Amino acid sequence: MPRRSEPGLRTLPPTALGDSEFPGFLYGTAWKEQETERLTRLALEAGFRGVDTANQRRHYFEAGVGAAVKKAIAGGVVRRDEVFLQTKFTYSGGQDHRLPYDPNADPARQVRQSFASSLEHLQVDSIDSYVLHGPSSRRGLTASDREVWRTMEELQAAGRTRFLGISNVALDQLEELWAHAIVPPAFVQNRCFASLGWDRAVRAFCGAKGIVYQGFSLLTANGRELQRPAFLRLVARVGKTPAQVVFRFAHQVGMLPLTGTTDVEHMREDLEANRFELSEEDVRFVETIATVATPR
Ligand SMILES: NC(=O)c1ccc[n+]([C@@H]2O[C@H](COP(=O)([O-])OP(=O)(O)OC[C@H]3O[C@@H](n4cnc5c(N)ncnc54)[C@H](OP(=O)(O)O)[C@@H]3O)[C@@H](O)[C@H]2O)c1
Repeated sequence: MPRRSEPGLRTLPPTALGDSEFPGFLYGTAWKEQETERLTRLALEAGFRGVDTANQRRHYFEAGVGAAVKKAIAGGVVRRDEVFLQTKFTYSGGQDHRLPYDPNADPARQVRQSFASSLEHLQVDSIDSYVLHGPSSRRGLTASDREVWRTMEELQAAGRTRFLGISNVALDQLEELWAHAIVPPAFVQNRCFASLGWDRAVRAFCGAKGIVYQGFSLLTANGRELQRPAFLRLVARVGKTPAQVVFRFAHQVGMLPLTGTTDVEHMREDLEANRFELSEEDVRFVETIATVATPR
């Protein structure tokens, strides 16, 4: 796995992953369509060592990620064991007509078919993290979710993925999964709203169980909060960009952030968010930015 000294890498606090190392940042590949390969390659060249995708053609072009990783390896930019590859199983409700499985197959077969297709797209024999893109309903887990997770556990037991994860998950669903899983989730990937204390309840559960919380939409879901004068004063005081302060905050509260930037300068800027420290007071301020009584 990636070494500590690589740019863009860090070791997070002790987690269920034991001593495993994984990147401190994930490069997200959603919505890039035909630019997926070029941008993923640029991200790897810039220093990203973690890539997030999904076998969901509606929003991701997984084969473009595979082509980028293959060429980056062939070009000596990275070794396979230095790249953390994460992809997802997506229910048909989240897909368009370009399904990576037989829509009439049972959930277990759909997972196996989707996973096999992911390996083809990514041109690898195994991946690092396989994520359930979201439970099949908003509340609780269904029989389908349980069958899907069991099948994901089989893939993990067969050595096809190192870790399992779940995305777009509410606290009650995560608690239920934790209670019934043989292989518990190593990762949770959620949209992170400052207005909800940056998903405080789910993050607290993750922290208590050693699950690594992956946060997405850290910038795009929080436009209003990040315009607050007190936040902008903090940004000016530490001499960084708003994005760097948000990503640094994420790191310091133990989050593994995602960025899907399409701009090479922003890629560098985001990776450099590892290279400074916010005070405890500043971390607390950002964490509660939406809940302070009087907007400062
Ligand atoms: N599990 C799920 O359901 C789910 C859902 C959504 C996303 N995701 C994952 O999360 C990844 C990230 O998605 P996201 O929703 O967080 O949005 P994003 O794709 O990362 O978009 C970030 C936006 O902020 C802008 N930006 C400005 N300055 C930036 C800076 N310094 N660094 C980064 N961005 C900057 C970007 O513009 P520029 O391009 O010009 O920098 C872009 O418009 C996705 O690619 C996907 O992998 C997962």
